[in-house]
Amino acid sequence: MRYGTVDVLRGVTFHANRGEVLALLGPNGAGKTTTIEILEGFRMRSAGEVSVLGTDPAAGDEAWRARIGVVLQSWRDHSKWRVRELLQHLGTYYEPYGKPWNVDQLVAAVGLTEHAHKKASQLSGGQRRRLDVAIGIVGRPELLFLDEPTAGFDPHARREFHDLVHRLSDLDDTTILLTTHDLDEAEKLADRILVLAGGTIIADGSADALSRRMATEAEVRWSRDGDLFVHSTSDATGFVRQLFAQYGQEIADLEVRRASLEDTYLALVRDFEAGDQEAAARSFEKRNR
Ligand SMILES: Nc1ncnc2c1ncn2[C@@H]1O[C@H](COP(=O)(O)OP(=O)(O)O)[C@@H](O)[C@H]1O
Ligand SMILES: [Mg+2]
Repeated sequence: MRYGTVDVLRGVTFHANRGEVLALLGPNGAGKTTTIEILEGFRMRSAGEVSVLGTDPAAGDEAWRARIGVVLQSWRDHSKWRVRELLQHLGTYYEPYGKPWNVDQLVAAVGLTEHAHKKASQLSGGQRRRLDVAIGIVGRPELLFLDEPTAGFDPHARREFHDLVHRLSDLDDTTILLTTHDLDEAEKLADRILVLAGGTIIADGSADALSRRMATEAEVRWSRDGDLFVHSTSDATGFVRQLFAQYGQEIADLEVRRASLEDTYLALVRDFEAGDQEAAARSFEKRNR
C-alpha cells in the first residue's frame, strides 16, 4: 500500500479460517490500521490482491457489507444519539440480511445496560468504546474487524470484552481480526498471531509456535539456604531435575517462567529491525564501493 511515494505495506500475505480469532500486532505506524481498512473496504489499496468472504472489498456491495462488522480505531460520530436508540436503529438496517441482535441483549452483552439511555457524548472513553463494539456486532457479522477495541478499558471492562470475544467466536463462529498493544490480551484471545513490521508479516502462528520458533529461554528461580538463584535455560525440565538430584530437600520457592508472548514479540521485532539495519548497511556499502 502506497501513501504518496511511501510504500507502507509491501508484502502482507495471510489467510483467516472461519471462526478463527487473529491478532494483528506491530509497532505504532507498522500499518495495522491501513491493513484492516483495506480489508473492510474503507481504504482503496494501491496494489495487491484481497478477498474477504469471497469478495474484493473494493467492490463490496451492501449485502457483503452487512456480513462484516467494523470497529474503527477511532470513531467519534453518533454523539447526539442515545445508546439504546442508536443500536435499535442500526439493527433495523441489518434486518433484510439476517437476524440482528436483540437490542437489550446487545446492550447487556457490552455492559452498557446502566447507560442505555445516555447520549453517546455523555459516555466515558471506555463506555464509548463498548458502544463502538456494540455497533460493530449489531448485525451478527460473520467477520469482525476490531482495531484496538480495548484502548481505554479498565480491567473489568477488558475481562468482559474477552468473554464477549470468546462467545462470538465459540457460539456464533464469528471470524475475528483484532489489533491490540496488550500482548496478554492477544495471547488470551487469539488462535493465531500475525506480526506486522517493515510493511510485511514477519510472523504468523499460535503464541506457542512463535515462542518455540524464537527458542526464547525459560527462567528458573529457586532459593536454597535463604539465598535466591536465577538461571536461564532452554531445557527447564532437565535443569530442574538436575537441581533436585543435587540438592533435593534444600530447594525451595521453585518457579519456572516461560517466555511470554511479550518476550517473543519484542525479540521478533528486535531481530527484524537488526536484520533490516544490516541489510540497509550492506546496500549502503555496495553503493559506496
Ligand atoms: N492517509 C494517510 N496518508 C499518508 N500516510 C498515512 C495515512 N494513513 C497512515 N499513514 C502512514 O502509514 C503508516 C501506517 O499507519 P497505520 O496503518 O495507521 O499504522 P498502525 O495502525 O500500525 O499504527 C504510518 O507511517 C502512517 O503515518
Ligand atoms: Mg492503528
